[in-house]
Amino acid sequence: MRFYRESLGLSDSAFTILRDLIHEKTGIYFDESRRDILADKLSARVIELGFNSFLDYYYYLKYDPAGESEFKVIFNLITVNETYFFREMPALESLVYQIVPSLLSSNPQGKIKIWSAACSTGEEPLTIAMMLNEAELLDGRIEIIGTDASSVAIGKAIKGLYGERAFRATSDGMRKKYFTLREKGHYSIDPSIHKLIKWAVVNLKDQTQLKPFASSHIVLCRNVFIYFSPAVIQEIAENLYKFMPDTAYLIVGVSESLLKYPVKFQMVDIGGSFIYVKQQNNKTS
Ligand SMILES: C[S@@+](CC[C@H](N)C(=O)[O-])C[C@H]1O[C@@H](n2cnc3c(N)ncnc32)[C@H](O)[C@@H]1O
Repeated sequence: MRFYRESLGLSDSAFTILRDLIHEKTGIYFDESRRDILADKLSARVIELGFNSFLDYYYYLKYDPAGESEFKVIFNLITVNETYFFREMPALESLVYQIVPSLLSSNPQGKIKIWSAACSTGEEPLTIAMMLNEAELLDGRIEIIGTDASSVAIGKAIKGLYGERAFRATSDGMRKKYFTLREKGHYSIDPSIHKLIKWAVVNLKDQTQLKPFASSHIVLCRNVFIYFSPAVIQEIAENLYKFMPDTAYLIVGVSESLLKYPVKFQMVDIGGSFIYVKQQNNKTS
């Protein structure tokens, strides 16, 4: 792989401008220590398009009319889609046993929208659907949406077939109840659970794409902020706050925190998990 980088010549200046453009469009930031990784992830694509250098690829992205849609391909190449069922359970337990019942009782006629943003191959929203089913809370008033910027990841979510690695935190009982063994060690999820999720490709860095989904009462943005720069985390948190309903909840990953950012969300301990809450009396924007 090193061959590609050297033969294509990822110079200091090409790296900097390419890195900055990718950051601007995707939110994902490659610092100097991840320079080889970026080169390795993109080199085959640069060659496939017939360019002789990363600099030519940069010009294509920046100035060619087709450049904008190339970022859809870039998402598929540079993202880390690691995920599994029943990951980081305490926050999901707070969601199912505290937040959803509270929203349902304060909003008896209305619907509740749960958005798993950056859901990768879908394990997170499917886990939520299984847990809500176990808690007997699925009465048709809950809508669950799973989105990711990677169209390849969403394609897999739509297929609903999962390999062994996805089950590392799944109990035998839940696996038996909700999954069926299909070809080559892959399991399909119960269609009655799978059909509860609406899937879409959404780039969180793009406010126009984010806005319609951010009208959700619960937004999960877990294990994706770690790939963004502080400025992008702040920008996305602000956009979410702006478009979320007056009472709404943002859940981030256990290794992620918004504490050092001047966001309007209040961090609240709900059932032992720290959740970022937008409250009605915060109606300022
Ligand atoms: C490590 S996975 C996290 C999956 C799941 N949320 C979890 O916690 O298990 C990170 C996901 O973030 C997605 N991602 C990265 N940048 C994104 C962006 N700008 N908009 C939406 N999704 C993005 C990646 O495609 C990847 O699937």
